[in-house]
Amino acid sequence: MEATLLILLFILLSAAFVYVSSLFAWLIWGKGVPFIPLTKKQLKAINRNIKLKSTDRVVDLGCGDGRVLRIFEKQGAKDLVGYEVNFWIYLLAKVKNKISKSKSKIYLKDFKKVNLSGYNIVFCYLSNYYMDSLKEKFDKELRPGTKIISYAFWAKNWHEQKIIYTNKENKKLGKIFIYKM
Ligand SMILES: C[S@@+](CC[C@H](N)C(=O)[O-])C[C@H]1O[C@@H](n2cnc3c(N)ncnc32)[C@H](O)[C@@H]1O
Repeated sequence: MEATLLILLFILLSAAFVYVSSLFAWLIWGKGVPFIPLTKKQLKAINRNIKLKSTDRVVDLGCGDGRVLRIFEKQGAKDLVGYEVNFWIYLLAKVKNKISKSKSKIYLKDFKKVNLSGYNIVFCYLSNYYMDSLKEKFDKELRPGTKIISYAFWAKNWHEQKIIYTNKENKKLGKIFIYKM
């Protein structure tokens, strides 16, 4: 009983540490966006509305603990890569991938320093500001036909191909913006 409580306490403290450290990384080093993972409900909505093929080459920009990649892997996508800049979250992603036997690859790297030309699906859950700043990189590197799937955030001066409304009660929430190069 005591041992179980200690384990639970350890898990809770580790989770709190990971989360707080990501907030600090965001506040101190200005690494763009803190780790705010998609909830189970949001992931279900993504899974319902986005269908990938086994031949898709997928990259998740700021993949957090890799949860979106694992959803896409279950759909059959095989070539899955995520970039995460926060060491602790990256570590968490590696552990979760190991536990769930996921073959998606997670790298500890700033995705702005990565050439994205090899991917035909780009997933992001970042911020409006980030989406605006990435437009130039996307224009330079992504091949025609590449699909950008952005959960919740859109880019100014960039016409989306489609908006998927996943929340029927509140159309402002849970939007998925699809852009095509
Ligand atoms: C809002 S969270 C989304 C996490 C995950 N994609 C999900 O949906 O649960 C954004 C993540 O992007 C990471 N991030 C922000 N800027 C980054 C960068 N330039 N390179 C790599 N990761 C970055 C943050 O550390 C954070 O974990």
